[in-house]
Amino acid sequence: MNTAIIYMSKHGTTEKIAELIKSKLKPDKTQIFNLKKIRSIELENYDIIIIGGSIHVGSIPKKLRLFIANNITILLKNKIALFLVCMQKDEIREEQFNNAYPAELREVSVANGLMGGEFCFDRMNFLERVIVKKIAGKSSNISEIDYDAIEDFIKRLRS
Ligand SMILES: Cc1cc2nc3c(=O)[nH]c(=O)nc-3n(C[C@H](O)[C@H](O)[C@H](O)COP(=O)(O)O)c2cc1C
Repeated sequence: MNTAIIYMSKHGTTEKIAELIKSKLKPDKTQIFNLKKIRSIELENYDIIIIGGSIHVGSIPKKLRLFIANNITILLKNKIALFLVCMQKDEIREEQFNNAYPAELREVSVANGLMGGEFCFDRMNFLERVIVKKIAGKSSNISEIDYDAIEDFIKRLRS
């Protein structure tokens, strides 16, 4: 099964998780696409399409939202899986997931992963540091990647 992992990442956490997912699938049959660098992807060449993004101030990047909107017809014809990287927990996290991905896609997705996240202060600019300090009360690096959620996601992909 050819798999595409399509993601956007601001400070590298979503990228790290995308690489980890790739390492747990068949790496020679799995290709990773960073939407920041890639203009178009031949989606019809893949049997499974995994989409991942992170939340910054309540939403996923516009480029990822546009990619989904522009390719919704072909995405709906494929086996797809979705994951989200963020630091909020529980209901807020669920709500962010639901706002990030359209309902029609969530309904057909074979795996919906909420993978936790990280605050990487060394990669943030001044404004981002101020925002994170204000909204989360944090001012140093924190890693809360949910490795169990990643394992679960992989299991559902394989089933
Ligand atoms: C400026 C800023 C705003 C953020 N806003 C939110 C938010 O609204 N909700 C949330 O759950 N996480 C928020 N986060 C946490 C990110 O989702 C987290 O840092 C994630 O690991 C980033 O992944 P990336 O490096 O792949 O972009 C924010 C992080 C930053 C730096």
